[in-house]
Amino acid sequence: MLTGEQLLEKAKEAMAGAYAPYSNFFVGAALLCEDGTVYTGCNIENAAFGVSNCAERTALFKAVSEGHRDFTAIAIVGGRNGVIDDYCYPCGVCRQALSEFVDKSFKFYFTNDKGDISSMTFSDLLPYAFNEF
Ligand code: THU
Repeated sequence: MLTGEQLLEKAKEAMAGAYAPYSNFFVGAALLCEDGTVYTGCNIENAAFGVSNCAERTALFKAVSEGHRDFTAIAIVGGRNGVIDDYCYPCGVCRQALSEFVDKSFKFYFTNDKGDISSMTFSDLLPYAFNEF
């Protein structure tokens, strides 16, 4: 099973695939499945801006489309022109998308330009997710 640090390395590799000609903000994500499989994702922008997809949802949709529904952690990195500066936190849409499949103890890992690692749980980042259906 990958550690948070190893998962962050996978996210950094995935960031290289980002297609972000409009914002120039590159994001990479690596999602760890309960069985140890890792799915990576990057952001993919579009000239019609609203069509763009975040790195976290790219990884999540790849994993779910291939039969995985149980996840333990995600690592996320991002920065202007692909250079990591500060921690890159997931947008609200990605938090809600993840909420369909993860529990409160699911972990997020972040890193910055100093190499510090920050980790948080899903309940830290989205304490009152909508899950009424
Ligand atoms: N982005 C992500 O990939 N993940 C997030 O959680 C926040 C934002 C992307 C979307 C867009 O391509 C770029 O970063 C700037 O918003």
